[in-house]
Amino acid sequence: MLSLREAIQKAEKEGRAIGHFNITTIDMVHAIVRAAQKVGDPVIIGVSEGERDFFGVRQIAAVVESVREETKHPVYLNADHTYSVERVKEVIDAGFDAVIYDGAKLSLDENIANGKACVDYARASGRDVLIEGELGYIGSSSKMLDEIPEGVSLEHLTTPEQAARYAKETGADLLSAAVGNIHGMLKHAKNPNLNIERIKEVREAAGIPLVLHGGSGVSDEDFIAAIKAGISTVHVSTELRRAYRKEIQETLVENPEEVAPYRYLRPAGEAVERIVEERMRLFGGK
Ligand code: G3H
Ligand code: ZN
Repeated sequence: MLSLREAIQKAEKEGRAIGHFNITTIDMVHAIVRAAQKVGDPVIIGVSEGERDFFGVRQIAAVVESVREETKHPVYLNADHTYSVERVKEVIDAGFDAVIYDGAKLSLDENIANGKACVDYARASGRDVLIEGELGYIGSSSKMLDEIPEGVSLEHLTTPEQAARYAKETGADLLSAAVGNIHGMLKHAKNPNLNIERIKEVREAAGIPLVLHGGSGVSDEDFIAAIKAGISTVHVSTELRRAYRKEIQETLVENPEEVAPYRYLRPAGEAVERIVEERMRLFGGK
């Protein structure tokens, strides 16, 4: 089985992107893997700090390893938005395939210094753990939004100069940038369009694969253009959370006497599976 680094390189060469989907519960892991098997592409399971605290850091690592072993399908585990070097070290020690050090709210100097410490730790681990850096603040919650998150500027996107400096000075493997994307989905409007030209410029300047965050609410056309412009991995969370919750709510309203979680959670997992399959086919050009 390819390493995550190899899988990303292959996807980039073939003009595809790998889907990254956030989970909170084990049934979501199974739903995502079922979809990935149907599509036949590698997939990344993502857990934010909150999601992995709920699941258990070592427990999610054990689950993904066991699913990978059983299915023989390339399923990778990423520690999503991680805000301290200590917590980056924790997931490297736990066996994750990749981790995002998110210093987007810090000064560029501080972000680089901490990013470099994460890269050094990963290289010393003896495993090929990918470190992703985050440049440019795009909001911090995967939720339904009334407005663009406070602190996000659609005018001040990540510049190619910042990307080049970050990549060179940290030695990071992947980079995510502010290119018109936001975390979460607007309730009453469409999410902003991506800046495809900027994606191209940042990819070229950084010289490392780019990750697109905030995949919920992005149009199909933007996804296709963004992947062509240099995006190799796409994160989706809010859409899955919204569908999961809606299905549970509807199932319980229809079946008020049901108390078996495996019965009332099943439709929620199936809803997640449908979205993941559809997104993966788009990202994979299938
Ligand atoms: O890291 C998580 C993603 O960037 C998810 O963004 O909730 O807007 O899909 P989203
Ligand atoms: Zn994100």
